[in-house]
Amino acid sequence: MDTSMTRSAGPAFDALEVRSDFPLLSETIHGKPLVYLDNAASTQKPRAVIDAVSNFYCHSYSNVHRGVHALSVRATEAYEGARDTMRDFLGAADRKEIVFVRGTTEGINLVAQGMTGSMGPGDEVLISGLEHHSNIVPWQMLCERTGAKLQVARIDDSGEVDLDEYRRLLSPRTRIVAMSHISNALGTVNPVKEMIALARAAGSLTLVDGAQAAAHMPIDVQDLDADFYTISSHKMFGPSGIGVLYGKQARLEALPPYQGGGDMILSVTFEKTTYNELPYRFEAGTPCIEAAVGMGVAARYLMDLGFDRIEPYESRLLQDATDVLRQVPDVQLIGTARNKASVISFTLGDIHSHDVGTIVDSEAVAIRVGHHCAQPVMDRFGVSSTCRASLAMYNTLDDVKRLAEALHKVREVFRL
Ligand SMILES: Cc1ncc(COP(=O)(O)O)c(C=O)c1O
Repeated sequence: MDTSMTRSAGPAFDALEVRSDFPLLSETIHGKPLVYLDNAASTQKPRAVIDAVSNFYCHSYSNVHRGVHALSVRATEAYEGARDTMRDFLGAADRKEIVFVRGTTEGINLVAQGMTGSMGPGDEVLISGLEHHSNIVPWQMLCERTGAKLQVARIDDSGEVDLDEYRRLLSPRTRIVAMSHISNALGTVNPVKEMIALARAAGSLTLVDGAQAAAHMPIDVQDLDADFYTISSHKMFGPSGIGVLYGKQARLEALPPYQGGGDMILSVTFEKTTYNELPYRFEAGTPCIEAAVGMGVAARYLMDLGFDRIEPYESRLLQDATDVLRQVPDVQLIGTARNKASVISFTLGDIHSHDVGTIVDSEAVAIRVGHHCAQPVMDRFGVSSTCRASLAMYNTLDDVKRLAEALHKVREVFRL
């Protein structure tokens, strides 16, 4: 299978056809055709999503839930329809388990905040050494509020979580385990199903940060048996400003409301407020309605393409891309886990990643450089930052070859 060819993954998956759905990918930058390899930060949007948001504004926009007029009903139907689509996308048992949030960060904060009242000294939160700051800091804050202890299962030299240490750290004190499905800094795919089963056997709750998984693999929260699973729309070809927190109904019911305000109540008097049922209890205030509608369309777009076709294409592309980048002298890969998706993190000699990113950008190749909001991962590998190429289903091997050429230019500039 040649991932640089037009029929990129054979008859099964046509990356160039998919790419033609994404208007921004035909832009030129500095007079050259754009190569977009920053998908772990944010993905581009297909015409279907752009049109859905635009149509919503043109024909259906109004506030949701509170109105009797036709537009309000239309907007509510679109918003609630998106919730149903997201239930399908995540394999949840019930639409009540789908809470619209601003994104993964808010999903994690909602759970961490909600656990405050039920935790205290002697309790522990277990995370992995692979986490994004969004899956570290809210738990640190929870520990500060409650006197609980944050435990971290370290990663090995390949960027895999040390499962022996993970097992050792699980104990009756562990109240919640929070783990990423895929690491944004290294691309490591965690064995989350196994990690969840171990946590459950130890009596702990589990939360999966699925920010990097949603665009690359099918998610089935019931099969995983996760208590909470959270994703961001902008990383799965949908609008920014919206995401989903999935929670098992009983788990969500046990959490107090996150924010107070309109829509999350059944009745309010100055003496007493009764809270609304799930999922509205967690959706105080006017949500980003149009973004929710767009997220539903993005999820439908992905389901129509089918992860059974996307996943093998991306997996082959990642392998081929890794081989291409390895051949550039002085490229040092950071993160070589056996099971990886989408992300190639690397350094180029001792050239600062910001210099690499800037020169590569002059060739119209967009990669991300820096610590990727995962400073503990950088520390683990003894670097302050890396260059990160992150792939999506619309990328081809030609994109990666353009990156390799740009890296050769960087080497020339720095006389490596
Ligand atoms: C693994 C991971 N978790 C959490 C986040 C935070 O996502 P958001 O900024 O959409 O809330 C990101 C974003 O890069 C991520 O990659």
